[in-house]
Amino acid sequence: MQDFLQFKDISKTFWSDDGKVETPVITPMSLSIAEGEIVMFLGPSGCGKTTLMRIAGGLETQDTGQVILAGEALHGPDRRRGMVFQSYSSFPWLTVRNNIKFGTRYRKDISAAEKDEITDRYMTMVGLARYADFYTNRISGGMRQRVAIARTLASSPDVLLMDEPFGALDAQTREYLQFQLMDINRREKKTTIFVTHDVEEAILLASRIVIFSSRPARIVEEIDVNALLSPQDRRDGNADTQVFFDLRADILKIIREEYSHMLEET
Ligand SMILES: Nc1ncnc2c1ncn2[C@@H]1O[C@H](COP(=O)(O)OP(=O)(O)O)[C@@H](O)[C@H]1O
Ligand SMILES: [Mg+2]
Repeated sequence: MQDFLQFKDISKTFWSDDGKVETPVITPMSLSIAEGEIVMFLGPSGCGKTTLMRIAGGLETQDTGQVILAGEALHGPDRRRGMVFQSYSSFPWLTVRNNIKFGTRYRKDISAAEKDEITDRYMTMVGLARYADFYTNRISGGMRQRVAIARTLASSPDVLLMDEPFGALDAQTREYLQFQLMDINRREKKTTIFVTHDVEEAILLASRIVIFSSRPARIVEEIDVNALLSPQDRRDGNADTQVFFDLRADILKIIREEYSHMLEET
């Protein structure tokens, strides 16, 4: 489905408590995402990416426009959209396994045995099988983040909304999870929006990259990465091809320009 997830004329302005100061965060923007796409959002910090993700997840209300999923306008959060934030909380009174299993609790499409199987599969995928019975206040922040990712995947949402989910992880864990995510997407064709400030991560994972301006966010560039780099190129970690280099240079140039607009204003 070509217009599986649509942002239609979305805009948002925040107001100070006394109603005197306005902060426009998103200018009317529209974007259509096909089923199975991984769209990577890049843009200067503070430009409005998290706000847009929260709107997509139904956690924030837009001033104008609609978010439309499979033809239906969305109001508020529901289980079709699974969110992972940069620091996502886990339940400290549950073990790693039960935290992940929590993600399957509302799934009606699978049996209890399948819930256990799925829990184990994602727990292994994020490299936490050895910690299955640890309470999550006994593991590191990076591990808790992996619990959150596994829990969201186990809930099998129609759309994955990931807001800098690997931001706090060390380089090796990040790379490992990037490849796991590529694999999941290849197998399950999970529609994903993923915010990152890591240009290489964006190129590695994207079917498409969307670059935002400095605040208020508008789309300054869309890059069809699949047309430039085959998944196979990227699977082999081929980050040293000329195409990859050129793409990275082009993207960095655009982002740098947006940063300079922002810094000139302040
Ligand atoms: N609830 C809020 N109330 C007021 N201002 C907010 C609120 N949430 C975000 N902002 C402001 O909106 C702008 C965009 O924030 P955010 O969406 O978090 O940016 P990004 O994720 O791109 O770094 C920032 O200037 C931020 O201070
Ligand atoms: Mg953010």
